[in-house]
Amino acid sequence: MLKVLVIVCVNIILVGAKSAEKANNLTKSDDKMVLIAKFHQNDYKLNFERIDLVYFRKQYLQHFNIVTFKYNRTSAVINATWTFHVDVGYDHNVIVQAYRFASNEYRLFPIRLQLNVCDAIKGNVIGLGNVIHCGNCTGCPFSKNERLRVCNWSPDEAYFPPLVPNGKYMMDMQGLFRTSEMYLARIYFTIYRPI
Ligand SMILES: *[C@@H]1O[C@H](CO)[C@@H](O)[C@H](O)[C@H]1NC(C)=O
Ligand SMILES: *[C@@H]1O[C@H](CO)[C@@H](O)[C@H](O)[C@H]1NC(C)=O
Ligand SMILES: *[C@@H]1O[C@H](CO)[C@@H](O)[C@H](O)[C@H]1NC(C)=O
Ligand SMILES: *[C@@H]1O[C@H](CO)[C@@H](O)[C@H](O)[C@H]1NC(C)=O
Repeated sequence: MLKVLVIVCVNIILVGAKSAEKANNLTKSDDKMVLIAKFHQNDYKLNFERIDLVYFRKQYLQHFNIVTFKYNRTSAVINATWTFHVDVGYDHNVIVQAYRFASNEYRLFPIRLQLNVCDAIKGNVIGLGNVIHCGNCTGCPFSKNERLRVCNWSPDEAYFPPLVPNGKYMMDMQGLFRTSEMYLARIYFTIYRPI
């Protein structure tokens, strides 16, 4: 019960960081730092399962493919390739909504936030900074008609928010160009604390 309350508070801070921009007229970089500073923890472990690409919109992406495979006995990783149809530049945002598995289904979990993908790569949010380590994606800006490839990537538990309870999770990642939806991907993982 206490853990759940703490999480709700973390969520309010995360959401608050975004709206604080308007309320307190923080500069954009202050706002980013407030948010990204929340993504560090060494309290739990994460077992990454897979990413499913639910759909993508042809107006924005010529193609988009994600495959999950076993890198070794214990770790799963993804390879992804895509080509944008438009000059996305730095205007690539993602709305994240978490779900936690309980009573046989994934139920809404109170972590919801919007992030700019370029800031998330720079701040290494959930380990996104590592996408440049394998393949030929160099990060932002993203240009149209450029076929890009990321390989052997998996989320890094150290760059997740703290205090998330043990359990099986699904996170919806709705990718946006400015405010238009480009794709929906789902990432599945388990959070556990070894005893
Ligand atoms: C925020 O502050 C800056 C600099 O003080 C000012 O130029 C800008 O108009 C303010 N923006 C809003 C929305 O109040
Ligand atoms: C599997 O690969 C991961 C990522 O490189 C590594 O951290 C882990 O130690 C490896 N596990 C085994 C059993 O080799
Ligand atoms: C990136 O790699 C892919 C696959 O190897 C290749 O088809 C593509 O042309 C490369 N893109 C760039 C911009 O070099
Ligand atoms: C993923 O990419 C790596 C590195 O290029 C390659 O060795 C591997 O075969 C690819 N795996 C799949 C399943 O596409």
